[in-house]
Amino acid sequence: MTDALANSSRPKRIAIWVLRILLGGAFLFFSMMKLSGQPKMVAEFDTVGFGQWFRYFTGSLELMGGIAILIPRMSIFGAMVLLLVDLGALIAQVTILHVDWVHCVVIGVLLSLAIYLQRSAIGRPATPLPMKMNDPGKGPSDAKTPAEAPGPHPHTDFQQRNKSENSMTTRPRIALIIGSTRPTRFADKPAQWMLKQAQARDDMDVEVVDLRDHPLPFFAEMASNLHVPSKDPEAIRWQETIAGFDGFIFVVAEYNHSVTGALKNALDQAYKEWNRKPFTAIAYGGASGARALEHLRGIGIELQMVSTRSAVHIGGSDFMAVFPMGGNKPIEEIEKGLLPAAKAALDDLSWWAQATMTARAATA
Ligand SMILES: Cc1cc2nc3c(=O)[nH]c(=O)nc-3n(C[C@H](O)[C@H](O)[C@H](O)COP(=O)(O)O)c2cc1C
Repeated sequence: MTDALANSSRPKRIAIWVLRILLGGAFLFFSMMKLSGQPKMVAEFDTVGFGQWFRYFTGSLELMGGIAILIPRMSIFGAMVLLLVDLGALIAQVTILHVDWVHCVVIGVLLSLAIYLQRSAIGRPATPLPMKMNDPGKGPSDAKTPAEAPGPHPHTDFQQRNKSENSMTTRPRIALIIGSTRPTRFADKPAQWMLKQAQARDDMDVEVVDLRDHPLPFFAEMASNLHVPSKDPEAIRWQETIAGFDGFIFVVAEYNHSVTGALKNALDQAYKEWNRKPFTAIAYGGASGARALEHLRGIGIELQMVSTRSAVHIGGSDFMAVFPMGGNKPIEEIEKGLLPAAKAALDDLSWWAQATMTARAATA
């Protein structure tokens, strides 16, 4: 799946913004014409009984829709309202007023395009999962289907939050998050290899989420977005991106025995979007990135995430063989030792993603 607005390429985001501004501006213009009583409009609506009241009604809807479409979080709903208004206008123009209907069709097409491009904001369709609730003995490493899903959590705020996430599909949507952003990073090599392993499976949809594409400022919000909605547009876009996924594969570089500053900041810039979702990792460094991944697991606990037991580690002589300042060999030369760990990690991730998707849907 590559349709998430927040996860889109820069040209696509620019295109969506241009579309929003054009549509928002057009509807603000139409609504002003209607509400200010332009003689032509008044004359048109006068041909229908109570037509002037109808003019105020549609003008107000268009005013609200035009404003909504310019607000990122409301734009999809604004576009939907405007599409309905536009359909109504089309019917009225053709059947009652017998006037120009072409602009309704053009605007309808543009609105449909806006909704289509932003469809990830609506949420994916809820598809019931087969659930096996009476199988408490089975865990992720010895069961292949969602077994005992965690029950409702007493934290009702969480249940409330997840109502809007609607993240239930049969195939979990997984983000492979590249946690290093420096220009000469090694991260791309393990990231591409892990992506290949995940994409070879039929139990998950995987996308790369590169922190380089999310130029987040250092955290400067009033509070975690658990308590206060974030203000920074990049932080909001980041949260929207994370909200669209059911699980994560972190590409973990070890910097001074921990994760990179960029990854820690990105983790801090969201909260509820991480909750009740699993993650695994491919970690690397002189000591296999083990200390960094253990830190990440600790952070994950506070973010209400589930870490898989298994993960891929590239360390020691293997790391030096593929590291650019070492042997710089292709990663395939050491993959024999990595493949079993990758399979175990992705099996676990898939199991937990299914289980948490089911549980989130059950408590929504
Ligand atoms: C600031 C910094 C700190 C590092 N600290 C560690 C460390 O504690 N342990 C380790 O094994 N490697 C450490 N390294 C080496 C990195 O593991 C290695 O440079 C790796 O390529 C970094 O990932 P990246 O290239 O994807 O950014 C460090 C590298 C940097 C730049």
